[in-house]
Amino acid sequence: MLKGKKILLGVTGSIAAYKAAEIVSLLKKEGADVFVIMTESATKFVQPLTFSTLSGNPTIDNLFSTNDKMVVKHISLAQWADLILIAPATANIVGKIANGIADDMLTTTVMASKVKVIFAPVMNKNMISNPLYQQNVEKLTALGYEFIDSEYGRLACGETGKGRLANIEDIVDTVEYALTLKNDYQGKTVLVTASCTREPIDQVRFISNYSSGKMGFALAKDARIRGARVILITGPTSLPAPKGITTISIESAEEMKKEVFKYFPEADIIISAAAVADFRPKKVFAGKIKKTKNENPFIELERTPDILYELGKKK
Ligand SMILES: Cc1cc2nc3c(=O)[nH]c(=O)nc-3n(C[C@H](O)[C@H](O)[C@H](O)COP(=O)(O)O)c2cc1C
Repeated sequence: MLKGKKILLGVTGSIAAYKAAEIVSLLKKEGADVFVIMTESATKFVQPLTFSTLSGNPTIDNLFSTNDKMVVKHISLAQWADLILIAPATANIVGKIANGIADDMLTTTVMASKVKVIFAPVMNKNMISNPLYQQNVEKLTALGYEFIDSEYGRLACGETGKGRLANIEDIVDTVEYALTLKNDYQGKTVLVTASCTREPIDQVRFISNYSSGKMGFALAKDARIRGARVILITGPTSLPAPKGITTISIESAEEMKKEVFKYFPEADIIISAAAVADFRPKKVFAGKIKKTKNENPFIELERTPDILYELGKKK
């Protein structure tokens, strides 16, 4: 999805700096060309060599070094990039950019650039709720800078609260969305089904299949990038709920049918990528079927609802 796109990743001095390595890997996997600029503080957490190796490009951590081809690097990189992502972003970098400070390679490059800048902030919960930080975010948002909300959870300082780096996949999705938004589905609602269903045998066992949900999730993300409002109805999956998409989790074919029919009237397009079970046990045993020496359990199957067929009748 990011083939040919040029992304400048700014890494700042947070305990989460190591997570930027995974961001570089994912961006590269999606086909992007990535340059990394590290602040001086960031180099205390991760070695520049990590990012040079993963990105395949030299990592820049010094505004004044002259030992490579880009003589005025901040201008060259500012012109080269299609998008600047700062992840993790410290309270300090947000404050500096909000106030027009350009005193290192990253802030100077941002100042010299005209492309979209996205921040993925990470910090202690008191820093995030600090009115000065909040004012900086408001100011930057009003100017068109984008923020990926940090998550709740256990923070590096040992406290629990808001301030963790957003999910890496969500960060990469946000970059993809910003760079590939086409809008030809604007005003449309797309309903996508994904993954498998589970049909219970008893309270601990079920019949299912190997569908992972990857296809449905990819189609849902693509529809969002094309500007659609997307509703994703998914069976059990290990994939995280995609950002900006209404995601509804179900277990059985019956639940899938209920949710599909609930959202059907709103949908302009339905993409049925789920591998819904064709059969289910006619009777769900209470508790757990016990193992017995001489007798194997008999499980009678019946057809599950044919969702596509029933939808077809309603067209
Ligand atoms: C162990 C450690 C972890 C830190 N983690 C964060 C953090 O997650 N977020 C933050 O805003 N500052 C954090 N800081 C403080 C920043 O490193 C400090 O504000 C620094 O000046 C940021 O510089 P930079 O924005 O140029 O990278 C941390 C400092 C230390 C020593």
